[in-house]
Amino acid sequence: MAQFRLPENSRISGGKHHPGKGGKDVRRFKIYRWEPDAGNNPSMDTFDVDLADCGPMVLDALIKIKSEVDATLTFRRSCREGICGSCAMNIDGSNSLACTKAIADVKGEVKIYPLPHMPVVKDLVPDLTHFYAQHASIKPWIRTQSAPPPDTERLQSKEDRSKLDGLYECILCACCSTSCPSYWWNGDRYLGPAILLQAYRWIIDSRDEAAGERLDDLEDPFKLYRCHTIMNCTKSCPKGLNPALAIAEIKKLMVARRGL
Ligand code: SF4
Ligand code: SF4
Ligand code: FES
Repeated sequence: MAQFRLPENSRISGGKHHPGKGGKDVRRFKIYRWEPDAGNNPSMDTFDVDLADCGPMVLDALIKIKSEVDATLTFRRSCREGICGSCAMNIDGSNSLACTKAIADVKGEVKIYPLPHMPVVKDLVPDLTHFYAQHASIKPWIRTQSAPPPDTERLQSKEDRSKLDGLYECILCACCSTSCPSYWWNGDRYLGPAILLQAYRWIIDSRDEAAGERLDDLEDPFKLYRCHTIMNCTKSCPKGLNPALAIAEIKKLMVARRGL
């Protein structure tokens, strides 16, 4: 009979409770902790935080816990305003940016895990090496064959520029790809919604002259066609983008060039 249990070292066990100093508006945070090199299993630590003495976002609580309670708590963050994408994690069951997710929008305990189905470096830090390699594989830059204009940049009409709206805003946070069941099971070969949205962004850029080659590269049973339009990606994007639509547009271009 098939066994679906997690590997021994992935099972979550125990965890420490840090009760804090009390207060008027105490909220409980349960946070995934794991240091793979230490050889222990992951645990869920509990931190009680007085929200009267904390900023409004989940990232504010994480920074407060790290500064005042446990300096070993590990997470990524940089811009704290939804621009860098580094604080992506699973909060209250959804992939989100900790810096734009309000604590007030979570009912009860705030449960925080790393982005799902990614190897963990430590605590809330996923290993994004493969994700970034997939991004590099689509050659995310303008590729041209023609000589550039002698005295201007390669210009674009307002209409052509507007085709990039809804695409250029992607911050590569990986919330969408790590919420996609197809990416969970086939992430080694399926590019996933974030990278496919990026691929489409370059395919439809009027200044790019490699659309045919870009489509050739995606004509593969795994890279593109593992998307089954489940739409988790679009639901989870913290920037309000629609990677599922971008994937559908690539598929339409594939059909059109085959003359079907
Ligand atoms: S629409 Fe495609 S990319 Fe988005 S979650 Fe579903 S399978 Fe994944
Ligand atoms: S499409 Fe949205 S969720 Fe996906 S990587 Fe870009 S910003 Fe993040
Ligand atoms: S810290 Fe940059 S997006 Fe959250």
